[in-house]
Amino acid sequence: MSETVALGARDDESRRLTPAIQLVRLRKNYGDVVAVDDIDLEIFEGEFFSLLGPSGSGKTTVLRMIAGFELPTGGAVLLGGSDVSQLPPYDRDVNTVFQDYALFPHMSVLENIEYGLKVKKVSKADRRRRASEMLDAVRLAEYGERRPNQLSGGQRQRIALARALVNHPKVLLLDEPLGALDLKLREEMQVELKSIQHDVGITFVFVTHDQGEALSMSNRLAVFNNGRVEQVGTPRQIYEHPATAFVAGFVNTSNMLSAARSKQLLGVDEPHSIRPERLRLAENDIGDSEVAAPGVVTDIQYLGADCRVRVQLDDGTSMIASVPSDRLAGVAIGGSIRLAWPRNAAFPVANTDISKGGDS
Ligand SMILES: Nc1ncnc2c1ncn2[C@@H]1O[C@H](COP(=O)(O)OP(=O)(O)O)[C@@H](O)[C@H]1O
Ligand SMILES: [Mg+2]
Repeated sequence: MSETVALGARDDESRRLTPAIQLVRLRKNYGDVVAVDDIDLEIFEGEFFSLLGPSGSGKTTVLRMIAGFELPTGGAVLLGGSDVSQLPPYDRDVNTVFQDYALFPHMSVLENIEYGLKVKKVSKADRRRRASEMLDAVRLAEYGERRPNQLSGGQRQRIALARALVNHPKVLLLDEPLGALDLKLREEMQVELKSIQHDVGITFVFVTHDQGEALSMSNRLAVFNNGRVEQVGTPRQIYEHPATAFVAGFVNTSNMLSAARSKQLLGVDEPHSIRPERLRLAENDIGDSEVAAPGVVTDIQYLGADCRVRVQLDDGTSMIASVPSDRLAGVAIGGSIRLAWPRNAAFPVANTDISKGGDS
């Protein structure tokens, strides 16, 4: 376990390497269902760490075991080096932001944020000051007196965040917190969340099924499939070097060459993945360091700057090439072409079944 983590962490030397959370052979069974299957994971202080995976892959269950809402069937949760597996949620230095925000409708925004401090018997003046600071941090200083129903979805999201952060937890857990927002707001909040996390310096564990979100926001991420972690790494490691066929397919589109086809084209008897943007439509000139395969164009999807060109190779393998739209002259559906790619653009992947982990 620690080897994988150290590898990922070395990517960013500025990161402190004190573990905030350690999951040790963590397991959760619900009757016959294995929701979490002996997971080992280490998350460092100050990291923005995402749990990425399709629906039902065990992300929420892991988060709930970290928070203490769910007890493990096996293994342990360590926070700051201490085993908290048997502690109730309120004895863990952790706060959770839920997808539905769970704000109190009859309280003002400030009262909502102060609530946790009030429960902890923090003095009124102190509460007000800390809540106001938090309101500033989430860029809603002028909204303290409003009620939650007088705010937009994105604003409510930020209040929920402020309410969790005002307690200065060691760790903040966020379960698909942007899921209820429309696309534009979601993209804005991605940037905001990341910058708020940077400002407060608290460890964030962020659950999402959206690979773009996980890649753009995280220092590192773990890709979940069927209750297991398929790969842990930085966004770049995960995207450019997917360790398994599942990761290659789930984290953006990837083309898969079977072991047999890889042997033929690359001389290596192992399945390989190639990202669509590494493929080009070649006329005749194939470079020495390139590999090429003939095929027929079966579909062209116009996306603006780029087009997605679907090509069926002569052995039936379907490939997708992402091609700049201005390079498509003369390419038409039904036409014969050759696909070429740099030899080093194809990565060997472990031979797991992509279809098993797909979203239902
Ligand atoms: N309380 C529960 N009782 C029974 N099965 C559950 C319960 N919670 C989750 N599961 C099952 O555990 C698996 C993982 O669920 P979950 O952690 O919610 O996945 P995710 O958050 O990745 O969508 C799923 O098969 C789900 O149906
Ligand atoms: Mg979930």
